[in-house]
Amino acid sequence: MLNLQSLSNKRILLGITGGIAAYKCAELTRLLIKAGASVQVAMTRAATEFITPLTMQALSGHRVHLDLLDPEAEAAMGHIELARWADLVLVAPASADFLARMAQGRADDLLSTLILASSAPIAVAPAMNQAMWADPATGSNLATLEERGVHIFGPASGDQACGDIGPGRLLEPQQLVEACAGLFTAGLLSGRKLLITAGPTREAIDPVRFISNHSSGKMGYALAAEAAAAGAQVTLVSGPTCLATPERVTRIDVESATEMLEVCLAKAGEADIFIGVAAVSDYRPAEVSDEKIKKSAATLDLRLVRNPDIISEIAAGRQRPFMVGFAAETSSLIENGRAKLVSKNLDLLFANQATDTFNRDSVAATAIFTEGEREMGPGNKHHVARQMLKLIAERAPQGQEPDRTLV
Ligand code: C5P
Repeated sequence: MLNLQSLSNKRILLGITGGIAAYKCAELTRLLIKAGASVQVAMTRAATEFITPLTMQALSGHRVHLDLLDPEAEAAMGHIELARWADLVLVAPASADFLARMAQGRADDLLSTLILASSAPIAVAPAMNQAMWADPATGSNLATLEERGVHIFGPASGDQACGDIGPGRLLEPQQLVEACAGLFTAGLLSGRKLLITAGPTREAIDPVRFISNHSSGKMGYALAAEAAAAGAQVTLVSGPTCLATPERVTRIDVESATEMLEVCLAKAGEADIFIGVAAVSDYRPAEVSDEKIKKSAATLDLRLVRNPDIISEIAAGRQRPFMVGFAAETSSLIENGRAKLVSKNLDLLFANQATDTFNRDSVAATAIFTEGEREMGPGNKHHVARQMLKLIAERAPQGQEPDRTLV
């Protein structure tokens, strides 16, 4: 049996749709909670015909969520809040109809809306008659969902409630719990110290103006959150963002590239792994005016000077952690990425299309390292962050000193 420890403290939103297998959700909820997870339940109207909300409320310890437009439920925890609450959305059983609606991206009931609004990983456990399962329409809906990064658990094959025999049975609760546990990365980075830069930097022009960029910080924050969930001690050196500090993460706020470098240099000695996700401004004004610059002249010349390359400076240091960089490119992704891996003396680099990344919730990237490449995503930034951390943990194994030779 798989280690279920990774479910400890995880928040699972269990979506139940209409199908005879819904009765298995009672045992599923019990086992998830036994493994240390918190479970909140959202049911479609059809699901309530098969298992009562009262049963699910008693087992989950929370009021069951049924309607999108229920003012009382919204006052307790709004649907967007619930979507954000989840570390995983598991739809079990997932009926053929619900899978079709998911594939279409519908948001006409609470559960479909939650799925659309959540940036957590999504898993579905299909359950239906074998002929419905075999229908090409179901197959193509499943393929669409899989392409979007939805995890598909099962179905199992065997006797069906309708008397048929074949594929379409919901996996057993214990198998579903193990499949959920397999999605989390608990312990993957336990004891490791990570230093992560995130967000944009601001380069002052005068007391009220600055040069910056569109970086939202979402990728760096997702990595910090997922690394902490995977057991790492995380220090996040962040430029200005609107994001909340992830749980169990130490955040140090900075404004300019110079400040970011200063903090990183001070902290790099303690770090095992450095991940440079920040979109550091490459240039800063040569002079910062003490007074607000008046708009009296028709034109204004700003002279810019190069900022230090933070990641290269850390990589060149004597206390060199395992170095991971990012590169947002507009063309020749792999070629430019590989050139940066070498020129910045990094161990690993994630390259992505610049236009597809900034301020988005989803991402796809190519991991580039000396011996090869690996595709990450596409998927939401948390999902892709977990894939990235798995690769980082693989390439910077615990107890082994990173290669400190400089190129
Ligand atoms: O050269 P480019 O900006 O494309 O490199 C991106 C990588 O280098 C990212 O990992 C980024 O955090 C890091 N970087 C840095 N300091 C800079 C510029 C980029 O650490 N001044």
